[in-house]
Amino acid sequence: MGDYTLTALGPATELLDLPFDRPLAEWDEPRLVAVPRGISRHVVRFVRARDRVFAIKEATDRFVLREHDLLRELANRSVPVVGAFGAVTGRRARDGTELGGLLITRHLPFSVPYRALFTGMGVPDLRARLLDALAELFARIHLAGFYWGDCSLSNTLFRRDAGALAAYLVDAETGELHPRLSDGQRGYDLDIATENIAGELFDLRAAGDFPADVDPLGTATALRPRYERLWDELTSDQTVAVDESYRIDARIKRLNRLGFDLAELSINSVDGGRRLRFATQIVEPGHHRRRILRLTGLTVGENQARGMLADLARFRAKWAEGIGQEIDEDAAARRWLDEKYYPTLAMVPPALRGKLPDAELFHEINEHRWFLSEAQGRDVGRSVAVEAYARDVLAALPEASAGVVAAPEHDASADDAVDDRDAGDAGDDRDAGDAGDAGDDGAQDG
Ligand SMILES: Nc1ncnc2c1ncn2[C@@H]1O[C@H](COP(=O)(O)OP(=O)(O)O)[C@@H](O)[C@H]1O
Ligand SMILES: [Mg+2]
Repeated sequence: MGDYTLTALGPATELLDLPFDRPLAEWDEPRLVAVPRGISRHVVRFVRARDRVFAIKEATDRFVLREHDLLRELANRSVPVVGAFGAVTGRRARDGTELGGLLITRHLPFSVPYRALFTGMGVPDLRARLLDALAELFARIHLAGFYWGDCSLSNTLFRRDAGALAAYLVDAETGELHPRLSDGQRGYDLDIATENIAGELFDLRAAGDFPADVDPLGTATALRPRYERLWDELTSDQTVAVDESYRIDARIKRLNRLGFDLAELSINSVDGGRRLRFATQIVEPGHHRRRILRLTGLTVGENQARGMLADLARFRAKWAEGIGQEIDEDAAARRWLDEKYYPTLAMVPPALRGKLPDAELFHEINEHRWFLSEAQGRDVGRSVAVEAYARDVLAALPEASAGVVAAPEHDASADDAVDDRDAGDAGDDRDAGDAGDAGDDGAQDG
């Protein structure tokens, strides 16, 4: 073995016997797996060690350390990013030749690169979902003071979130953290994104994977107005008449509906006290998922949480109606978990259960029940819905473990050994969480 220094954010003993004394492209390792992935400048390969999958990227030591620090700092600032795990630097081959450094990140469970979205996932209204996810990712990145500098679809990963998509930043190499961004910096970041995304969508079109009736350029340029609308809603000041302070409450409710909490606001009186000026100083993403976490202890996606809260509210109202008195939300949540959430999941055949994260499975089953009931004009009931969903939908999804559809890398040079079509969105997310909210869910110990 040549020399190296491994710094890791957790026990990394399972990685110690990797061939660190050889260039990453030359590794010939049974633990290498082929995972659907985006296009990259660097050599990036995936390793399954025990039950976890890691992405390993080779670059200069300086780049590796910088990106590792940035990813950590972004996670601390609630930005959805892949989880940094470690860095290997000072590598030397046995003959003393210097080798590049290695950045090790946790594979983001259930994530798919954008090509897989277009080729296999069947996300309804994909164009709008994609733009919403990107607009939100950008807003969250910019709120954190991060200038990305190289946003592209290849540098983003997507996860399904109860009918919506959640976007994650995967490549932070070109980014810079600032106390806050100027409008010029934000605008320039969007310029780069628009240009890159347009190029990528044209490439998809050329490969026959982009819908013929959707305009690639129009799709890319539609990102900015969506982002600006969200940014304004999150950050702009508002002045209201003193007797209209309810409009401030309405604004806060709108923020909550968008999935943000107001962590700090300021209200100044202006016009000799006739009007109030209201500014959102700090907004924090994760409004619904924080509530679900508090009520149930479950870590789920924002949109999954939204659906679960609605289901819980219906459950609570029905129960209250039955006994003729109000029920406390915590008590309702405990009973909802025991009588609704877990029993529904338990009805899914165990062999199929790991194909989707629990919360996504619960959402899908509820949707399926609604869909069947609509078609039949009556409620088909839970067990019929679960059975039909498992048989007709879930069984057709690809097998996966640890949240990744991966195959052994037969050919060490074949980065595309797995067809993106196989990515689907299968796997197991139970301990995966969301790196972006590392603060409240221990997301990093996937
Ligand atoms: N932690 C990860 N989880 C899942 N996929 C990843 C992860 N890290 C990298 N990838 C995949 O590898 C591709 C290349 O990684 P990236 O960091 O963008 O490399 P480069 O700096 O060379 O562009 C990404 O597009 C993504 O699909
Ligand atoms: Mg990249």
